[in-house]
Amino acid sequence: MNSQFLNLGLQPLANEYLQKFKEKQKKYHLKVFFNNRNKLVSISKRISSKKMFNNKYPYKSSMSKTMKDSFKKLSNEINKRFKPNLLLEIGSNDGALMKNFKKNKIIGVEPCSNLSKITNDKGFTTYNDYWNLDLAKKIRKKKGKVDLIYSANTLTHISDLKSVFKSIDFLLVKSGILIIEDPSLLECIKKNSYDQFYNEHIYLFSALALKNIIKKFNLEIFDIKNLKTHGGSLRYYIKKKDNNNIKISKNVVKQINIEIKFGLNKISTYKNFAKKVKKSKKELKNILTKLKKNNKKIIGYGATAKATTILNYCNIDSKLIEFFLDTTPDKMNKFMPGKNIKILKYNQNFLHNYDYAYLGAWNFKDEILKKEMKFRKIGGKFITHVPYPKIF
Ligand code: TMP
Repeated sequence: MNSQFLNLGLQPLANEYLQKFKEKQKKYHLKVFFNNRNKLVSISKRISSKKMFNNKYPYKSSMSKTMKDSFKKLSNEINKRFKPNLLLEIGSNDGALMKNFKKNKIIGVEPCSNLSKITNDKGFTTYNDYWNLDLAKKIRKKKGKVDLIYSANTLTHISDLKSVFKSIDFLLVKSGILIIEDPSLLECIKKNSYDQFYNEHIYLFSALALKNIIKKFNLEIFDIKNLKTHGGSLRYYIKKKDNNNIKISKNVVKQINIEIKFGLNKISTYKNFAKKVKKSKKELKNILTKLKKNNKKIIGYGATAKATTILNYCNIDSKLIEFFLDTTPDKMNKFMPGKNIKILKYNQNFLHNYDYAYLGAWNFKDEILKKEMKFRKIGGKFITHVPYPKIF
C-alpha cells in the first residue's frame, strides 16, 4: 500500500550540527512514500526520538520574529475563541507560545532538556518527556483533563501516530479542542520544496490524510486555516466527534477539495513531483558551479535543517558555499551536517563581503529581504531553489 516516489539519498540527522570539521557522522537513507489507502506521505527510515530530540536540540522558535508574531496572534485567538481554563502544548520548545499565557493556565511538554529548562526556569510547568499515553496519564492524575491541546511542528515528528492521538483523546475534556499546525503537503509539492523532507519530519500532513487518520481516535477537523509560516502551513482545529456543539466550517471541505483537485490522492502527482526534484537539483548545482567558475563569492543564509537535505542531496560543500550565517547561538561555529560547511555568527557587514547568498531559510524570505535591503542595494544577490532554482 506504501509506494516510494522519492529517494533523497544518504542523509545525516538534519539538526546534528558538527562540532569539528569532518567529524564522523552516521547517515541514513531518506526515501519518501505515499500510502494509497489513507493518503499519508511519510519517510521510510524511523530514527529513535531519543537520538534526535535530546539535551542539545539547536532549534529555537523564538529566534524568528515571524514565529513569535504568529504565536502571539494565535494566543489571542485561543483566549477569545475557546477561553480554555487549562491548556497543554506538545513540543513547547523555548516557550514562544507559552509566554503569552498565565503560568497557571498552560502546561508544556518538551523532550529536549535544554529547551524545557528554559521554560521551567521561568516558572512554566514543563514536562521534560516524550508525548505518549504514560505521560498523558501522569498529567491527568496531577492536573486533571485539559480544555485545549496545541502542537506546532511536532506531531509530524512522532512515529507512532496511534499513540499520539489516543493520548490526546485521553487527556482532553469532552468539549476539548485540539489545534495542530504543520507544513502543508500541498504547499510543499506546489513550491517543490523537497527540503521539507528530513529525518525528523516523519510525516508531511495534508488535510486529506489527517482526516483519515484521526477519525479512528474519535476526532474530527472542524476548521482549517492556511498560514504563511514554515513555507506554507495548515492549522487544523479539531474536536471530539461526539461533541455536536461545534459546527464544521466550510473551510474543511474546501481545503480537501483543493487537495483532491491538485491530485494529492494520486501517486502520479508524487511521481511528477519527484521528476521536478531531480531537475531542481541539477539546476541549483549548475547555478552555483557557474558562479564559482566566475570567481563569485557565495555564502549560505540560515543554517536550517532543510538546508541539510539540500546540501547532501545535491552534493554541495564548502567549495561552492563557503560559510553559512545563522543567528542561532547553538549552531554557531559548528559545521553543516554531512557537508562540513562552517556556520558563522550572523553579521551583516560580513555578509556584505559576499556576492551571493543561498537562502537556506527561504521560509523567512520576507523577513530576511526586509533586513537585507542594503546587501541587495550594494549589488548582493540571493539564490533560492523555491519554487525553482534562481538568482534574485
Ligand atoms: P527553520 O527554517 O528550521 O525555522 O530555521 C530557520 C533558521 O534560520 C534558524 O537557524 C535561524 C535562521 N535565521 C537567520 O539566521 N536569520 C534570520 O533572519 C532568520 C529569519 C532565520
